[in-house]
Amino acid sequence: MRRPIPTGSPRLVAGIPDKWSPIGQTSLLLPGHQVRLIDNSATSGRPSIDAHTFNDGQKGKTLKIMLHKPYLLMTPGPLSTTRSVKEVMLMDWCTWDNDYKMIVEGIRGRLVNLASTKPGFTSVLMQGSGTFSVESVIGSVIPRDGKLLVLTNGGYGDRIVKMAGQLKIDVVVNDSGDQKPPDTAQLRKTLESDPAITHVAVVHCETTTGMLNPIEPIAELVKSHDKIFIVDAMSSFGGIPMDMEEWQIDFLISSANKCIQGVPGFGFILARRKELEKCRGRARSLSLDLFEQWNEMEQNEGKWRYTSPTHTVRAFAQALRELEEEGGIKVRHARYQKNQRALVEGMESLGFECLLPRELQSPIITSFLYPRAEAFTFQRFYDELKSRGFVIYPGKVTTGDTLRIGNVGDIDPEDILKLIEAVNDSMYWNRTQ
Ligand SMILES: Cc1ncc(COP(=O)(O)O)c(C=O)c1O
Repeated sequence: MRRPIPTGSPRLVAGIPDKWSPIGQTSLLLPGHQVRLIDNSATSGRPSIDAHTFNDGQKGKTLKIMLHKPYLLMTPGPLSTTRSVKEVMLMDWCTWDNDYKMIVEGIRGRLVNLASTKPGFTSVLMQGSGTFSVESVIGSVIPRDGKLLVLTNGGYGDRIVKMAGQLKIDVVVNDSGDQKPPDTAQLRKTLESDPAITHVAVVHCETTTGMLNPIEPIAELVKSHDKIFIVDAMSSFGGIPMDMEEWQIDFLISSANKCIQGVPGFGFILARRKELEKCRGRARSLSLDLFEQWNEMEQNEGKWRYTSPTHTVRAFAQALRELEEEGGIKVRHARYQKNQRALVEGMESLGFECLLPRELQSPIITSFLYPRAEAFTFQRFYDELKSRGFVIYPGKVTTGDTLRIGNVGDIDPEDILKLIEAVNDSMYWNRTQ
């Protein structure tokens, strides 16, 4: 039975009607644009509404995004997801049921296939945001007599150091500063001078700056000294081609709401099976015990130890399917690269400067220096952009004032061009009146 489509006054908040406009009425959506709501429930078989944009009286493209996205998230995750990823969450699943466990097992298998073309890897899903998964690795993999070396050049590397401290793990830090990649000469020195080190951890895409740390030269040194290698690839896995065997990674961490383009709720760990098997009894936490979580999923074919985020998991299965449909990681990477180049070209044309040189820059998120204008405040700029349908991030570096713009998610170069227009219109400090 079809439910009636709700109607209400067409008042607009941040570019989207806060109640459904009466069908057929037009209302202002963005400056110079209008939206008309069209009831298509007869054809779609469920309550749903399409919106068409009108610009100067001309019908534009169907504007589905504005009804399921109040704004585009130009952030590295949570990011803008497709409507189809959100739609599959409209069903409740039993966390113990075989149908649901099959979804989990499908996800685990797909992740392993994305991690490497070589055998020997396995995957674990872990409740919570990405940090929980990082903490589950750090707290479960390093034995009591182990020692962790962290290569850091930003906030997420620093977070691993903090975690190790909290967990009372012996830790040593090589910090290359916010704007420099890890120093391999220093790494060699540290490994040679401190044989007690058993594990080395590094962040792949340091999302606080947007820097992409080169993993292979680090891995060469780590492995030539026979250490276990942990990579936080939270904001890069799924968006940048990588192979755990080729890059000699033992434990890799990412989460559902990053480049696979799912929604938040869990993270995942890809692990070299023979190294994970050694981790029984090492965990410093009950709920974040990586080995036990994996063991349960292995023994009980997709069952989580404690309540699993069922809707998020279902959405993630759909997101993985959509990654395949897009053409896989290589194709997605190419789209992200195009987006990032369009972003930088557009921002530079408006006078913004990048924090990092191009050769250190990831195709995921870019830090821009604040414009040199006395009147500039991040909050006002953010509000202006949001009112035009785009949300960005504040900066997170210790040196200088920056803002960050992500270009991942269900975003294409056309969206980036619209963003640049919106940035141009939001540069209130250049307005004459
Ligand atoms: C590289 C990296 N590590 C860790 C995290 C922490 O993830 P979360 O915020 O989901 O806990 C993030 C989040 O963006 C990240 O980019």
